[in-house]
Amino acid sequence: IGAYVPDHILSNQLLETMVDTNDEWITTRTGIKERRILKDKDKGTSYLAIKSAEDLIQKKNIDPKAIDMVIVATATPDMMVASTAAFVATKIGATNAFSYDLQAACSSFLYGMSTAASYIESGRYKKVLLIGADKMSSIIDYSDRTTCIIFGDGAGAVVLSREENNSKGILSTHLHSEGKHAKELSLISPGLGTRWVTDIIEDNDPNDESYYPYMNGQFVFKNAVVRFTEVIYEALNKNNLTQKDIKLLVPHQANLRISQFIQRKFELNDNQVYTNIMKYGNTTAASIPIALAEAHQDGHIKKNDIVLLAAFGSGFTWGSALIRW
Ligand code: UT7
Repeated sequence: IGAYVPDHILSNQLLETMVDTNDEWITTRTGIKERRILKDKDKGTSYLAIKSAEDLIQKKNIDPKAIDMVIVATATPDMMVASTAAFVATKIGATNAFSYDLQAACSSFLYGMSTAASYIESGRYKKVLLIGADKMSSIIDYSDRTTCIIFGDGAGAVVLSREENNSKGILSTHLHSEGKHAKELSLISPGLGTRWVTDIIEDNDPNDESYYPYMNGQFVFKNAVVRFTEVIYEALNKNNLTQKDIKLLVPHQANLRISQFIQRKFELNDNQVYTNIMKYGNTTAASIPIALAEAHQDGHIKKNDIVLLAAFGSGFTWGSALIRW
């Protein structure tokens, strides 16, 4: 697993000087202490994605020309049109690969895993590079304290290939979506002007071209804990396992209180739930692969361990993946 976060640290103390907030509120409500920000205005999500892919390529000594397909899971592509994945693939030398972007907000990485695994299971492709990357700072309003304290920038990359032993690798993935609450966590593109977002557009100043994400935090929180619970049970039941079998649960890092709720619900101990939200905030599509990279590097995941990934995000979208490492 490759990972990359930019050097610049945006601490709670720094945010205190920017908006009406404080370290105590942010820490108790979210668990976040700091997040990483890609400051350079001329660098986008592709920069983060390329860095994480290069980290992986170097660690595993991968020949980029052997990669058949590149998926960039992201909610913040460099451009609305012209695939970020195509740009990344070319830059890293994956010249034999085809590529595309995939957007399922905070669930994007799990959607990408399921997609990549399906291509490999079908026998059509042998090596798929999946990158979860987001430059959230490019879409955040740093005068809105309800969102600016939460998000950070980063990227993580994995390469998927065939495992001949059926009892290893990705054992199952479970994906869901439900569009009726789309507005509760959304970022509109007024230029695209679809009719059903008209009422949101009316709430905005039509002369103001700066549109930022809106999040109904409490509503999203309540839905997240329900869906996380359902989709974790779904993965365990499908594989005839119980929570005792989980070596490590790596949840999307949305809010420490969400992870703690799940931990209590499934009676997991501290070592069974991975948390790094204090360092990076919510990095959307990047949060799971960055957490996996760190957990692996720190020795929390070993061969044959059962690792469970779960996410919930805008859409709403949610999902899980069960892996025998
Ligand atoms: O990754 C995608 C999925 N996203 C999530 O899962 C996010 C889920 N939601 C959350 O994590 C939480 O709802 C938040 C962290 C966003 C907010 O925490 P909360 O405990 O739900 O707070 P709240 O929105 O109910 O706000 C409580 C109070 C309000 O003041 P009043 O009305 O009680 O006077 C807010 O105005 O806290 C105020 N507040 C703040 N105060 C200081 C809101 N943001 C801030 C802030 N600093 N940054």
